[in-house]
Amino acid sequence: MSYEAKFKVWRGDDGDGELVDYTVEVNEGEVVLDIIHRLQATQAPDLAVRWNCKAGKCGSCSAEVNGMPRLMCMTRMSTFTEDETITVTPVRTFPVIRDLVTDVSFNYEKARQVPSFDPGDVGPGEFRMQQVDVERSQEFRKCIECFLCNNVCHVVRDHEENKPGFAGPRFLMRTAELQMHPADVADRREMSRDVQGLGFCNITKCCTEVCPEHIKITDNALIPLKEEVVDRRYDPVVWLGTKLGIV
Ligand code: SF4
Ligand code: F3S
Ligand code: FES
Repeated sequence: MSYEAKFKVWRGDDGDGELVDYTVEVNEGEVVLDIIHRLQATQAPDLAVRWNCKAGKCGSCSAEVNGMPRLMCMTRMSTFTEDETITVTPVRTFPVIRDLVTDVSFNYEKARQVPSFDPGDVGPGEFRMQQVDVERSQEFRKCIECFLCNNVCHVVRDHEENKPGFAGPRFLMRTAELQMHPADVADRREMSRDVQGLGFCNITKCCTEVCPEHIKITDNALIPLKEEVVDRRYDPVVWLGTKLGIV
């Protein structure tokens, strides 16, 4: 069964843009990205859209569909009624390059701030990781870097001025993952507070809600990281050491 759906798609560049109306054919089993591709093929050959895998694994096709941050390739058209107008806009937090394509380089800058894994003096093969530790970090390893979590977080969504000092949930989660690694000897707690802006996060959990990989970003990464930072800050030995200027 096919039908004609009404779409509003944002068209423009970093200077100006508007929602443009289209009517596009929809067939059973299709997702929003299929319709955007049909639109490109039949009515708007210059429509810019980023995608790659069409399987929810590359993280390229992030957009806002009826105001919700989503992967277009994983958003089934059956989510909507046939008479509903579907509005597709680029993710709001990052600057538009053209149409549905945004410049996500903010995220790569934040990625570079996280000090990488540091095994200390342990040589290859000298450390045996326990299954419980493997499982803990495996959840975070499911991240496909779609940046929907960074896009939705209110700390930067409407606050350009917060961007220099906030890494966003994706990279705070990366820090938490490394902190939890039993073979890693680096201490990133102060960095997460002073450079990544962990204190900006007030646990609204919007990041967790939009994650297409269903990673419990807030409960399993951000809150444990906050607890670690607080532990260090209020540790009486650290407090005394700071006063004496030796920590
Ligand atoms: Fe996307 Fe989830 Fe990774 Fe955030 S944590 S970038 S929402 S997959
Ligand atoms: Fe933002 Fe997620 Fe914290 S949405 S405020 S990083 S819980
Ligand atoms: Fe790869 Fe959508 S095209 S996640």
